[in-house]
Amino acid sequence: APLSQDELKTLVGQAALQYVQPGAIVGVGTGSTVDKFIDALAASGIQIAGAVSSSVRSTERMKALGIAVLEAAEVESLGVYIDGADEIDHGGHMIKGGGAALTREKIVADLAQTFVCIADESKLVEALGKFPLPVEVIPMAAAQIARRFAALGGVATLRAGVVTDNGCHILDVRGLSITAPAAFEADVNQWPGVVTVGVFARNKAKVCLLGTAAGVKTMT
Ligand code: A5P
Repeated sequence: APLSQDELKTLVGQAALQYVQPGAIVGVGTGSTVDKFIDALAASGIQIAGAVSSSVRSTERMKALGIAVLEAAEVESLGVYIDGADEIDHGGHMIKGGGAALTREKIVADLAQTFVCIADESKLVEALGKFPLPVEVIPMAAAQIARRFAALGGVATLRAGVVTDNGCHILDVRGLSITAPAAFEADVNQWPGVVTVGVFARNKAKVCLLGTAAGVKTMT
């Protein structure tokens, strides 16, 4: 039988262990794929010095499994940051933030030398934008930012009932095709009230472990 999406996530979560050095401090992202990595790390017996986590969800899972969690502010740099994505293109640019943790994810990714993306093959796209782009915004700026996206052909909707770990709101923007991710990220980052745009270009993946029917494919 073909592997289920859940099994593909398990495979790439395990494959990411090859990037974990004993004694290292490891950056850990958020999501169902990262949950598989956390479980694999705990089961592996590899002793790391600790993890820097991008969310309360991952912190709680790691602590429950006996993995020490350090504050990002205590850490000068990380070798690797391991995280999933909502979409990834062939250049390693990603859309992230489906779980609303994009700001902390970008902060921890920025501490790391190497972003290792773990994803099942459904996440691989030719151009970013089919997945609604999450943008964390200061609440009073949300309407103005939505108008700016409308001018680019996007339709932004407020994610109902969501307040981020930073006390901000999330806009989900549909209808964009992001063919120049680095320029797009730099532009939107300048808009007043934008906290973080969910395009990861400056902090793109250097390695992607993609779970496919034929096994784990490594894209670099
Ligand atoms: C969290 O904010 C996102 O960036 C996640 O990395 C993304 O949603 C991937 O999650 P799954 O592994 O559950 O698809």
